[in-house]
Amino acid sequence: MKNIVLIGFMGVGKGSVAREMVKQLGVVALDTDDIIESMENRSIKKIFATEGEQYFRDVEFKVAKWLEKSVKDTLISTGGGFYKVKNLNKIGTVILLDSPFEKIHERIINHPNAASKLKKRPLMQDLERAKVLYNEREAQYKKVADIVIDVTEKSVEEIVKEIQKKAKL
Ligand code: S3P
Repeated sequence: MKNIVLIGFMGVGKGSVAREMVKQLGVVALDTDDIIESMENRSIKKIFATEGEQYFRDVEFKVAKWLEKSVKDTLISTGGGFYKVKNLNKIGTVILLDSPFEKIHERIINHPNAASKLKKRPLMQDLERAKVLYNEREAQYKKVADIVIDVTEKSVEEIVKEIQKKAKL
């Protein structure tokens, strides 16, 4: 299998979809935020607070280079800003999980762990700014994606089925 790279806005469900794909398809999965937290031995929140966003973006670039060079046959879920790395399409087939901002926000606040989900995302602290970021990114996400999956009102099982069909897994 060629690598699959899941992209999309914070809270759209990249992690949940990746976990379901592991369960159903038995694929090996990695998450760029998890890799960065291990490399740095601190949380994303801490990295943003102490080093600033640009530092985090630089680490994302390093991770992207490593993924391109060293990772095969793997499902890679990414942080919401990872799509900006230069070599994204060289890493694997890029799949965008897409949904309107309001639906993503609804999904986050209805989650049983909503408070902790919000707390660990520095760019989700201010709702108005998050919406501006979403509007800035929406067209760019679509531009880099090989496949777009509208995840609105769909179960993770339905989303995985659609990915399997469209990516011919
Ligand atoms: C970010 C999304 C986060 C994380 C960081 C920055 C972004 O990942 O990488 O807080 O720029 O959209 P999730 O998409 O998993 O929340």
